[in-house]
Amino acid sequence: MLRIEITCPAKLNLGLAIIGKRADGYHDLESVFVNIGLSDRLVIEEAAEFSLAVHGADSVPTDKNNLVWRAAKLFAKETGKDIDYHFEIFKRIPPGGGLGGASSNAAGTLLGLNELTGQPLNHKGLLDLAVSLGSDVPFFLNDGAALVEGRGELLTPIELKQEICLVIAFPRAAVSTGWAYNALSERDFGKLDTKPIVKWLGGGKTPAELPNAFIAPVTDTFIAVEKTLDKLHQTELNPVSMSGSGSTCFGVASDLEEAGIIARELEMNGVAAIPTRIVSKGITLREPS
Ligand code: C5P
Repeated sequence: MLRIEITCPAKLNLGLAIIGKRADGYHDLESVFVNIGLSDRLVIEEAAEFSLAVHGADSVPTDKNNLVWRAAKLFAKETGKDIDYHFEIFKRIPPGGGLGGASSNAAGTLLGLNELTGQPLNHKGLLDLAVSLGSDVPFFLNDGAALVEGRGELLTPIELKQEICLVIAFPRAAVSTGWAYNALSERDFGKLDTKPIVKWLGGGKTPAELPNAFIAPVTDTFIAVEKTLDKLHQTELNPVSMSGSGSTCFGVASDLEEAGIIARELEMNGVAAIPTRIVSKGITLREPS
């Protein structure tokens, strides 16, 4: 029986600027995307017909509102391949957290189906489908860190040459990406100085700050996010920021041991938090031997 297991990592934004609104309604952004050691598991298995199940997150839809569903249908339409597979998503990445879980699942679906059906699409073909599924999906087709521009489809790889450990914290708030973009105003637009971030990933010193244009509008509305950022600022973590359009916040630790200690302290303080690290491996496909 044809079956493939896919590890779909979360992403984190190390700095994010919104340059401005485009004529097509989207926004041009500048950000550094990295994969982190927190992932969902996606299993695709041959079946009598197409079906989708989700474990570990009640709020995640199992119909066409799920990006995995849309990715599979789009793949079938584009390639003419049949998609009589059972898709099972085991969620660990919190939805609505700015960690790209749904986008990672969608990219995993494209890569997994391409593998299972004899690679009908090349990288460019996969990229075209990814962009039409969502702005964050293209990033997940590659390994490693990237400077991301345009709507999210212009990717420049960045080398990761040192271990970087973090604490990520989960405020009790789910922020919709569409809402967050709508909440932006002129004051939030600007550019990101990516040089210090790229140097850091390449082995240089930790930057003093990781600005994110969404922090102002999101904390104006979501007090839980503001409180979480405040609590992270009270720790040794430095710098502290938010990922994507939120709600997940994070701070940089000096090593994994410190990250573990701080995450436990935050937990005792009522903040859900985990230690993790930046990883250079993106989506991983595993076929049973
Ligand atoms: O591309 P995606 O479907 O993830 O985007 C969700 C919403 O976020 C879009 O409908 C759009 O309103 C907004 N968005 C944007 N500019 C981007 C990415 C997303 O305005 N670069």
